[in-house]
Amino acid sequence: MGSSSVFLLFFFFFPIITTLVYGQSESSLPAPVIPLAVKSPYLNAWVAAANGSSPGAISPTFWTTQRQLGWAGFVRVDGQTFQWLGKGGTAAKALASYVTPTRSIFTMAAGSLEFNITFLSPIEPEDWNKQSFPFSYLYIDAKSSDSMPHTVQFYSDISGEWASSDNNNVVQWNTTDTGSSVLHQMQRTSMQPMVETNEMAEDGTVYYSMAKRPDMTWQTGTDVSLRGRFTGGSLLQNIQDTNFRTISPNWPVLAFAVDLGNITQTSTPLVWAIGVVRDPLVRYVKGTGVEVRSSYFRAKYDSINAALDDFLADFDNAKTRALTLDNKIMSDGAAVSTQYADLLAISLRQTMASMDITIGRDDNGKWNTSDVKIFMKDIGTGRRVNAVETLYASFPALLYLNASFTGPLLEPLLEYQASPQYHNSYAAADLGSSYPDALGNNTDIPVLGVENCGNMLIMAYAHAQKSGDGSLVARYYDLLKKWTDFLVANSLHTNGYTSADGQVGPDMSNLAIKGITGIFAMSKISEVVRKSDMVNYRNKATQLETDWEGLAYSSNHITTDYGVASSWSLIYNLYAARLVNLPVNDQLYKNQDAFYASQASTAPRFGFAYDTNDNGRAKSQWTIFTAGTTTNSTTRDLLVSMVHERAFYNASGNPFPTTYDSVTGRSIPLNGRASPAQGAMFSLLALNTPNKAITLAGPSSKGGPNVPAIVGAIIGVVVLIAIIGLAYFLWKRRQRRRSKWDYSEKGAAPFSISRKRTSVGVLDDNQPIEVTPYIVDAEAAAIAARQSSGTDSLYQNGYSKAREAQNGSKTYLLPGQRPGLSAAGSSYSGTSEGGGSSYYVPSTTSGVSSELRVEVEELRREMAEIRAQRLQDEPPPMYQDPPPGNIASSSAQTSEKSGFHVV
Ligand SMILES: *[C@@H]1O[C@H](CO)[C@@H](O)[C@H](O)[C@H]1NC(C)=O
Ligand SMILES: *[C@@H]1O[C@H](CO)[C@@H](O)[C@H](O)[C@H]1NC(C)=O
Ligand SMILES: *[C@@H]1O[C@H](CO)[C@@H](O)[C@H](O)[C@H]1NC(C)=O
Ligand SMILES: *[C@@H]1O[C@H](CO)[C@@H](O)[C@H](O)[C@H]1NC(C)=O
Ligand SMILES: *[C@@H]1O[C@H](CO)[C@@H](O)[C@H](O)[C@H]1NC(C)=O
Ligand SMILES: *[C@@H]1O[C@H](CO)[C@@H](O)[C@H](O)[C@H]1NC(C)=O
Ligand SMILES: *[C@@H]1O[C@H](CO)[C@@H](O)[C@H](O)[C@H]1NC(C)=O
Ligand SMILES: *[C@@H]1O[C@H](CO)[C@@H](O)[C@H](O)[C@H]1NC(C)=O
Repeated sequence: MGSSSVFLLFFFFFPIITTLVYGQSESSLPAPVIPLAVKSPYLNAWVAAANGSSPGAISPTFWTTQRQLGWAGFVRVDGQTFQWLGKGGTAAKALASYVTPTRSIFTMAAGSLEFNITFLSPIEPEDWNKQSFPFSYLYIDAKSSDSMPHTVQFYSDISGEWASSDNNNVVQWNTTDTGSSVLHQMQRTSMQPMVETNEMAEDGTVYYSMAKRPDMTWQTGTDVSLRGRFTGGSLLQNIQDTNFRTISPNWPVLAFAVDLGNITQTSTPLVWAIGVVRDPLVRYVKGTGVEVRSSYFRAKYDSINAALDDFLADFDNAKTRALTLDNKIMSDGAAVSTQYADLLAISLRQTMASMDITIGRDDNGKWNTSDVKIFMKDIGTGRRVNAVETLYASFPALLYLNASFTGPLLEPLLEYQASPQYHNSYAAADLGSSYPDALGNNTDIPVLGVENCGNMLIMAYAHAQKSGDGSLVARYYDLLKKWTDFLVANSLHTNGYTSADGQVGPDMSNLAIKGITGIFAMSKISEVVRKSDMVNYRNKATQLETDWEGLAYSSNHITTDYGVASSWSLIYNLYAARLVNLPVNDQLYKNQDAFYASQASTAPRFGFAYDTNDNGRAKSQWTIFTAGTTTNSTTRDLLVSMVHERAFYNASGNPFPTTYDSVTGRSIPLNGRASPAQGAMFSLLALNTPNKAITLAGPSSKGGPNVPAIVGAIIGVVVLIAIIGLAYFLWKRRQRRRSKWDYSEKGAAPFSISRKRTSVGVLDDNQPIEVTPYIVDAEAAAIAARQSSGTDSLYQNGYSKAREAQNGSKTYLLPGQRPGLSAAGSSYSGTSEGGGSSYYVPSTTSGVSSELRVEVEELRREMAEIRAQRLQDEPPPMYQDPPPGNIASSSAQTSEKSGFHVV
């Protein structure tokens, strides 16, 4: 065995060794708003059990937090009843809570019983059948806290609030014994297909079910009667209430009880399955018509009952898969930092739950499992379907989990825009604005052209690069080429264009580099699909990039607007440049690292605003993309800690939002709560996933990195990893933290900011969700309005203005100036600024030398990345240990009476 094989072996085992050593398998802090059953856009239940409070004292809600979801849990221990879910009774005590990527766990105490309630929303990267099944598990393990036997009964029910947004609607229900399980179901008596109200489906059937066990009883009836029975010492009667009625006031509930008898501990967990089933799932524009599409799992199952039986029977395996995935993600995350791993744990379910994985039928009406399309709801921002900038933000999680998810997300966008139904020369922002209707949108609004063409090309290439499947980019090559040509004409000077954040300006550095990266992505696509286009696009991209460095960089940083030294922003689109390996001067990344670090001392509590031209709003997805652009771990950790501070802010009342005030943390309308964009948290891991050899035929069977055959360099990298890994391993071992189960001790929480830390109550940010039709921010919408009404001369015609800019007759605005607000007279001309910067290396290359430069750049960067991520892990300057120990050990055993669901 050669020495290189030995190193490769080490390389192979390295992750396993580190997993054993790090051992972080769950978040180091409790999350403020905890995902319970979060598996689809309409199965999305959370509980705001922040700060150690008991989930038995708070009602779960839909993700909007505007809608309570009746989901009650009680336990009777030696005759005394405690509530562990929902509110109204005597709350069981919460000893601890934490989240993992797939699970939320509460450790509870009631009388002499200690029990864990675990909410598992499976994430199944290898299996679309399982991933598409809109169900979550709830399971309970219990043991007596004094080792003595105690008599124990558990009870749980759900109300009709899951089946509709309006309590005045009539619901009907049914209970089925399949032989292996008992299934309760409930739905509106008059369902409204494809209608959602206040974000909830009006065409869903909610299921609550349990595998049959001899000690289980069930019943349907009013909440008062069934909960009253249980607290009064009885079990359930296995009978149905058939008096169908409105959701309230005589709340019909679907209940189960289990009599465990006199036990010291459960031998197997109690397991429930909860789900919201819709069929069909979406309507999708197909040619001149509309097709209805169903969930992927329908190809395998004729009936929900059979699918649900299998889901319950598969619990042990599902749990094992979940633990394996959780451990992998958390140890990959912990290799960056504990805080980073925390962000992975709190973000993944909301990303995965935003999607419906669908299949169509063939001409004979049979399911066609080759016809897979995935639809993503822009949860937290509106009802847009496959909103392009949200997809772009979510991509890292999907690329990391299984890049095969990304193809079917892009396919419907591509298919629609390649059809005669779509007329615009630039990429659309979405497939329409009323999920679950994906009917397309042909409105001619070019202002977002650079944004969306750039996003689409980057994502299309990232899909091919990480999955090895070149069939998608081959199929839509001409469309992608059209968008590339649009970018070639319009990217460097973004005159007339807007970013999805709502930023406007003739020379926006961040938007420009996205467009340029899109062109480069196309050069990589053409390398596989149509080689004759490659050199041209590669040269265009590298030339524009060189020009961009000259224009965008001044005063030691990339400015928001070319030449305006006082402006700066998180240049998050450089993340995409790294992802697709666009050659960018390394010094530029380093200078940005230093610049961000230099701003840390003036950063507000919740981190940098993403742009100095915005009014102090931070955006988690762009902050973490920016962390992905760093080469310095100090700066990386600084950015991670900013997002972490908000994500685990215990006064938060909302599921992890993307957009919030950087000073107060308040999430503001269109705040992206529960947004799939949080898939951005995986940005650091996605960079490390190997590229695959792209084949045109379809998914490649042989994976592995597409490494240039420079053997010496490979060995060098491996040796470096081995040495650095060992050093890191030893260092990390010294850093072992105490168990997060031990909430009482100070020092358990790894994080705090040394600066001002005012104590605030729960954020008052629970305004109803505002729905935005097309453009994310109000400002951009206003611009679009001005443009379409013709009152804004600058934006009357994006194309001609942009071309004009290229021809040299430029009108520049200073940042802060907005078109229509003042005369666009202030100007700066030409490209001279960049010439003076210290690092600027003009290099106009072409053909073979350009190609070589790219390969060498790629390799060099890979090495630099590995070095940066393994080597330097010192604590960032402004963000220091240790914490104020602000995690309450538990809530009191309160008995909170409320008008809702009285026992
Ligand atoms: C990724 O997903 C595809 C499609 O479901 C599947 O065939 C493949 O096995 C998955 N790969 C991995 C590594 O999970
Ligand atoms: C609850 O989970 C914790 C952490 O995994 C474990 O230590 C404890 O034994 C569990 N309790 C029960 C009753 O299973
Ligand atoms: C309830 O389910 C049973 C099968 O368990 C079925 O025979 C019956 O028709 C259903 N009733 C309603 C009202 O759907
Ligand atoms: C539970 O079991 C213990 C030990 O076997 C026994 O002492 C106790 O009386 C039992 N309690 C009940 C209610 O059966
Ligand atoms: C199934 O779908 C694929 C992809 O859309 C399509 O190419 C194929 O023709 C379909 N098969 C049938 C039998 O309709
Ligand atoms: C990383 O940044 C920190 C803070 O700006 C600086 O002290 C350190 O020297 C940098 N490390 C490297 C390797 O550049
Ligand atoms: C969280 O707990 C700490 C310590 O008990 C307390 O000071 C703080 O006010 C609590 N925050 C909220 C939002 O309840
Ligand atoms: C298409 O987008 C425009 C611009 O935002 C919007 O006004 C319109 O309502 C959208 N139409 C559909 C069908 O989504």
